[in-house]
Order: sequence, then C-alpha cells, then structure tokens
Amino acid sequence: MIEKINSLLEEIQGLQASNAEQLEQLRIKYLSKKGVLSDLMNEFRSVPAEQKRELGMKLNEVKTAAFDKINGLRDALASSDSSDDDDIDITRTAYPVKLGTRHPLTLVKNEIIDIFSRLGFSLAEGPEVEDDWHVFGAMNFADDHPARDMQDTFFIESHPDVILRTHTSSVQSRVMEQTQPPIRIICPGRVYRNEAISARAHCFFHQVEGLYVAEDVSFTDLKQVLLLFAREMFGEGTQIRLRPSYFPFTEPSAEMDISCNICGGKGCSFCKGTGWVEILGCGMVDPAVLELNGIDSKKYKGYAFGMGVERITNLKYQVKDLRMFSENDKRFLEEFQSAY
Ligand code: PHE
Repeated sequence: MIEKINSLLEEIQGLQASNAEQLEQLRIKYLSKKGVLSDLMNEFRSVPAEQKRELGMKLNEVKTAAFDKINGLRDALASSDSSDDDDIDITRTAYPVKLGTRHPLTLVKNEIIDIFSRLGFSLAEGPEVEDDWHVFGAMNFADDHPARDMQDTFFIESHPDVILRTHTSSVQSRVMEQTQPPIRIICPGRVYRNEAISARAHCFFHQVEGLYVAEDVSFTDLKQVLLLFAREMFGEGTQIRLRPSYFPFTEPSAEMDISCNICGGKGCSFCKGTGWVEILGCGMVDPAVLELNGIDSKKYKGYAFGMGVERITNLKYQVKDLRMFSENDKRFLEEFQSAY
C-alpha cells in the first residue's frame, strides 16, 4: 500500500488542467466519494494496527497534496480567466459612484422653458462668444450710446469686436435675420458682464429671453403672458406690476415686479420692505430693431422680455449668496436632491 501511495503522490504532483471541465474531472477522480483517495481510506480500515501509524501519516500527506494541487489549479485557472476578460475594469473605483443631482439653475431654467413651451414658444440657442453687431448693433444700441455702459462686456478681440454676449437678445437677432414672422421663441443661456463679484452680482449669470413677432401683437398680450407665467411659477395668488423703464430695443419698455413670494407681499428683508421684487425687463420691440433684422415694421409688431434665472431661483429657493451657484459645493447641491 505504501508503494501505491508514493506513486499516487507523484501522479498528483504532475496533474494539469487547462479548463474548468478538466479540473472537475480531476476533482471527481481524486477527491469525490468514489474517488481514488476515498478508496484508499477504505483500504486503510483493514490495515493491521501496527502499520496504521505510518500509513495514516502517508495517507494524510497524499490527501493534503491532492487538495492543495486541485485548489492551486483552480486558482490558476480563475486568474488566467480574468486577465482575458474585457469586462473587468481594474481602473474603476472600489467605492460606489453616487448619482448626482440636477443643478438648481437647471431645474428652474427647465421649469421656465416648460411654462413657455406650453404657451407655444419654441427653443432657440446661439453662441456665447458673439460679435458686437448681434449683441448691440442689431439691438439698436448706437455705437457710442451710454446704454452700452449698463452692459459692460468682456472683449475677446477688438476691431472687429468679438465679445462675450451680455444678454441672449443676440439669439433673437440671429433668429430674426433668418426667419420671417410669426416668430415665437425663448432663448435660454449663459451671459457675461464685467461686474465685481459679490453676493448679489457675478460676472456671469443665466437668462431666459422671449420674443414674439406677428401681425397683431399688443402690450396687453405681453402683460397677460407674463401674468400667466408669474402665477405658474410662483403660485396662483401672485400679483404683478409693470414700471416704466428704458431699453434701446423696446418701446415702450417696462420692468416687471411680482408680489414678494417670501413674505407674501407684507414686506421683508428680501423685498427690502416693499412687498415687491423685480424679476424681468420687457416691452414692445422697437420698430427700428425689426428693420435692423430684416423684418417689415409696418406689417409686423412684437414684444420681448428677459429674465435672470439666478433671481428666479433665489425667489424659489432663497439662496442668499449668488456665488453658491458656481462654487460646486456638494453640500449645497445635494440640498436639491429631492427637487424634481
Ligand atoms: N436684454 C435685457 C437685459 O439683458 C432684458 C430684456 C429683454 C428687456 C427683452 C426687455 C426686453 O437686460
């Protein structure tokens, strides 16, 4: 029996398996209940007592060798398998990646777009790096008019001037020069102004501007659309008021306030005790703007409006400091996790 065990030991050392199936065959042959080792154990029972000690040790040795060998072959197969397997990405983080949240400005921008699309406005977009003509010239700003100072800009190049757009009115110009009325668009996007950065002002912010040009468009239409927007955005009880204002591209022009939705119009620190907060500029498109952009001002009229997304977001979520929107502080962004 000792010779049998010795030759078995040698045989086991030389075992090879090139796939899982061969490995399984080896396991059955040596380790299963009807396998070689099991047979040896049965034989061992009938061995005379005085040989048991020596044979028992030998038997344990061959048993351990068989287990070690077969487990070793299994490990070798598993690791050679995985190195061939393209599905395993060893550069992936061991920690689960958490799903992010939508940025509050995106949430509010989408809501504004949604309200106006239900009113028949379609989406128009344009470049952030613009020429002077689309930002100012086509919007009826004379070259040396002081109204340009209200929108101090950043220059990419001068003569001819390439600038960062200060409002998305440039998109309205780009649409008008290519399409004839009826035109009913909203233009969301990022805009830039040369302002000192503080809790209340930044050198970039986001706008949504709207333009409607058709044969019969009146100030009443404008007011009604804006009232509807304010109530959809801030709730049924919201009041609006229009104050006369000035923009080079609209005549007459107005600024629109809504009843402060933080104090309900009673007066608080947000509305500086007045009960009203300004949310947008608007007016009837100046006929000169229509003409500058290739539209017959005798036949068509229009209204336009423009609002800052940050301002609307502040009113909805009471964000105290404008800088929070661009700091990428996860603690701030995660507060909007449950917003839709
Ligand atoms: N373009 C103006 C601004 O950025 C907003 C506005 C748009 C005002 C349309 C009136 C009409 O300040």
